[in-house]
Amino acid sequence: MVKIIRVRDYDEMSRKAANIIAAQITLNPQSVLGLATGSSPVGTYKNLVAMYEAGDLDFSEVSSYNLDEYRGISRANDQSYYYFMNDNLFDHVNINKDNTHVPNGENPDADNECTTYDAAVRAIGGVDLQLLGLGRNGHIGFNEPADDFAAATHCVDLTESTIEANKRFFASADDVPRQAYTMGIGTIMSAKKILVVVSGADKAEALYNSVCGPVTPQVPGSILQFHPDVTIVADADALSKFPQE
Ligand code: GLP
Repeated sequence: MVKIIRVRDYDEMSRKAANIIAAQITLNPQSVLGLATGSSPVGTYKNLVAMYEAGDLDFSEVSSYNLDEYRGISRANDQSYYYFMNDNLFDHVNINKDNTHVPNGENPDADNECTTYDAAVRAIGGVDLQLLGLGRNGHIGFNEPADDFAAATHCVDLTESTIEANKRFFASADDVPRQAYTMGIGTIMSAKKILVVVSGADKAEALYNSVCGPVTPQVPGSILQFHPDVTIVADADALSKFPQE
């Protein structure tokens, strides 16, 4: 079931999403979080850091598994998702870094990396709360529009649209890695709860198609309609294709 929480803007979205994650950690201090990168969750992480600094949140027993990572990128590169997570969250809270996991883009053996990552997620009992952003083409993680849903963690070729969208973070489009390791749709769907943060008019079509369109691998986010516990926190611009109340 998909529940939508309508908010005014990015800041309100970020506060609401952080509150949901904080509630999860408070209720279960040993929560396994599935975490996302991109600009959508940055504000959520800022709010979580503020709650930690205020003494309201304890990450000491939390574990995390990130959705994805560019393939062939060094962990020291400031555009790697490994770097992003440390920079935006892990360096600023009391999480045990040994319990944080991001697919290793430096491992050239794709099969080995993906199989090991899925096995680790399974071994810990799966993700309790998975945070997701939504790509402009409806992708989740780096599951790009495709002819079928890929279940397990796998290596993907990024689409031109994603390379174009992500080039703002690199010196040029040529510097954007062409491949990534990503949790598969099955891995994402096995999370007990899913929280999606969506902001901005450029996501409106992808959000509408994900929630109201047919479930199709051409819109990877549409698979969320089949999950029993999805909460989408979306701002007015992202919801502009939905009927207004
Ligand atoms: C990226 C990431 C996704 C992210 C999405 C949206 O390519 N792989 O995990 O959710 O695209 O990014 P943004 O939040 O910057 O719009």
